[in-house]
Amino acid sequence: MGRLDDQVIIVTGGAQGIGKAYVERLASEGAKVVIADLNAEAAGALVRSLGEDGKDAMAVTVDVSNADDAERMVSETLERFGRVDGLVNNAAVYQRPGLFRGPFDQIPVEDWDRVMAVNLRGIFLCCRAVISHMKERGSGKIINISSSTVAQGTPNFAHYVTSKAGVIGFTRSVAREMGQYGINVNAIAPGYTLSMDAEDVDDNVRATDLRSVSNRPLSRSESPADLVGTVAFLCSSDSDFITGQTLTVDGGNTMP
Ligand SMILES: NC(=O)c1ccc[n+]([C@@H]2O[C@H](COP(=O)([O-])OP(=O)(O)OC[C@H]3O[C@@H](n4cnc5c(N)ncnc54)[C@H](O)[C@@H]3O)[C@@H](O)[C@H]2O)c1
Repeated sequence: MGRLDDQVIIVTGGAQGIGKAYVERLASEGAKVVIADLNAEAAGALVRSLGEDGKDAMAVTVDVSNADDAERMVSETLERFGRVDGLVNNAAVYQRPGLFRGPFDQIPVEDWDRVMAVNLRGIFLCCRAVISHMKERGSGKIINISSSTVAQGTPNFAHYVTSKAGVIGFTRSVAREMGQYGINVNAIAPGYTLSMDAEDVDDNVRATDLRSVSNRPLSRSESPADLVGTVAFLCSSDSDFITGQTLTVDGGNTMP
């Protein structure tokens, strides 16, 4: 028996990186997982590998910044599994695809808009698409992925940091609105996490990782495995009395 047996959980951006680790952990705790990602090939490969392991999962190709895609993500989930218990809003413009890094006054306006569209509007659209179903059922768990860069005020990344700060505000506001329906809305703020493919680890990644490690009381690199337990907890009934919160998982680097 798993703590998430028969729960149906959608993970956006679940095909690669940290999202893939969320999918694998939720499935290993018994959930049926819907992998909603732009990258159809990686999502399909993950569904096959989970299937070989006896896990029930499906892929939906979506751009979370598109309202019709978000609606289709939920309708296809309901068609296949008949319910949605959880939504993990993890998709973001971060490294897949990569984004401009540099002083705020040099951020191309179209990059600013794309980051806001995916990282912020995408969460709004996916929550909007799922909420009437959750309200009808009188339960649901929504987990929005923010970032510890908000607390750090990480420089040369203003569009991303601003979008992730917005995620926290949205989480709090929607948690206040949705509590009456038995729906929990929380956020997770990961620290700098080595979630890229090995061939993408360059000098810049190594330097950022070293800097993060030296600032952490738990002084080691952060990996996707460090985050999965928090997502599973927030999807489970163990967190039924927690809402509107942002759990920072960064080895103690920030202590808000
Ligand atoms: N890696 C870190 O250091 C770190 C730190 C803090 C927060 N985060 C956050 O954690 C989450 C996952 O990070 P990651 O490192 O795995 O990111 P990543 O860039 O490696 O992966 C993002 C995933 O989202 C998908 N995606 C991107 N745009 C999409 C869209 N419009 N619609 C649907 N899917 C889309 C990508 O295909 C990919 O599978 C992101 O929200 C990121 O901002 C990451």
